[in-house]
Amino acid sequence: MKKIEIKEGGRTIGMVCVGQALSEVVPLLDGYPAVYVVHDMNVRDKAADLVSVLSGSGVNVCGLMSVEAAEENKNMDTAMRICRWLMESGAERSALLLAVGGGITTDMAGFAASVYKRGIRFAYIPTTLLAQVDAAIGGKTGVNLDSYKNMIGVIRQPQFTWLYPEVLTTLTRRDFLSGAAEMLKTFIISGGDCYRECVDFLGSLNLVPGIAADSKDGFESFLRLNQGRLSDLICAAAAVKAAIVSEDQFETGLRRRLNLGHTFAHAIEWYERAGGTDCALSHGEAVAVGTVLAARLSEASGVSGHGLADRIADNFARCGLPTACPFGLDDLEDAMNKDKKAENGKIHFILIRNIGETIEYDMTAAEAVALLKGAI
Ligand code: GLY
Repeated sequence: MKKIEIKEGGRTIGMVCVGQALSEVVPLLDGYPAVYVVHDMNVRDKAADLVSVLSGSGVNVCGLMSVEAAEENKNMDTAMRICRWLMESGAERSALLLAVGGGITTDMAGFAASVYKRGIRFAYIPTTLLAQVDAAIGGKTGVNLDSYKNMIGVIRQPQFTWLYPEVLTTLTRRDFLSGAAEMLKTFIISGGDCYRECVDFLGSLNLVPGIAADSKDGFESFLRLNQGRLSDLICAAAAVKAAIVSEDQFETGLRRRLNLGHTFAHAIEWYERAGGTDCALSHGEAVAVGTVLAARLSEASGVSGHGLADRIADNFARCGLPTACPFGLDDLEDAMNKDKKAENGKIHFILIRNIGETIEYDMTAAEAVALLKGAI
């Protein structure tokens, strides 16, 4: 099993482990007197398999709860439900809450664990690529407040995040690609070679005929055949994220780089939620579009040379990701202003100097949109 540490001032504060078999998670749970498992309803079979492996190996699994992991349920009500379930199940301060699911599940469970009895320990087994390379690493936990994403939450590290790439074979191609967008984003921040390898890998997936977006057929065998390559990419992306979080756990500077493409992506998602359009990009797809917009803004503001944005857009399209903003720039400006991300009116945009090198550049949404209008 590969282990990637998250550190703070030389002290290990978190651990990402990459395993090949379900049973490898058992030693990680050694020494926890009581384990409570919360899982996304959609992965109930996987959660049941896990519980049977754990119980069969002597881990004291004291309860199993399912949540409906949808953005509209990522709220205080669900967090309270998890807390109430822990309380009614008799979970003590020494308990560990183990979350199994995608980023919505891990975010909500991590938050509930962080406030239940003023904080119990928690750990994650992410079951989507997006959560494996991003959401379940780095300790951001939280829930939405009305239509504002992750407005309530804390940064608190899980005991471990256990990555098990095999679990991804049951994703649809579209869900997989949504996570792949975050992986590409990570390598644009740091890791030019991995970026090129990732584009090649995803490009070859896109060339396999007959894999429909929402189908698992064909896609599953492709992933099984390419398990080693995928696992290496996931490890590399997790290592980039762990290194950034080790430098800046509480996002006072460097960690903001991980928001590359997200200012635009959140605006696109905000606009969708507010009902302004019937377009429905997933989070990862919105990040892909947002990253291309960030590249265009990088060119327009002189941070990068000409041609970067087209190159990234071509790469993403080759991978099967969307690259065009579904709304006009004026709507985007409006949505960026409503996203409540601005500080003193300025937004921390992350711009791309080159693949593998980003910088922070503060400007207003209006300034960004004016630059983009000149560039598109
Ligand atoms: N998803 C960005 C971060 O964890 O900082």
